[in-house]
Amino acid sequence: MPKITYVAVDGNQTTIDVPEGTSVMRGAVFNDIDGIVAQCGGNMQCATCHVYVDETTLDKLEPPKEREDEMLDFTACPRKPNSRLSCQLKSSDALDGLIVHTPERQN
Ligand code: FES
Repeated sequence: MPKITYVAVDGNQTTIDVPEGTSVMRGAVFNDIDGIVAQCGGNMQCATCHVYVDETTLDKLEPPKEREDEMLDFTACPRKPNSRLSCQLKSSDALDGLIVHTPERQN
């Protein structure tokens, strides 16, 4: 099963198995990982599932689609080139080893 690592602002890391097809956001929420709020439940309406993808694993991802790209302009913490909405990142073998950093705040 693909493993995803979440790194908190304080540097604390948690690695979990996220079943294929499950979003990186849901993986965090189901495993009580702090730092991802996901107010809209994955409907791309809140941008409170913002993460910074670790530069070393950025090449595992396709670029964001148009709607995600638009919503990334509404994150509470500054948007960076490696910003993504974790609700739009679906776990798969290609994402195995993905590392995401949760931002300081989501709203
Ligand atoms: S959970 Fe709301 S945009 Fe991702």
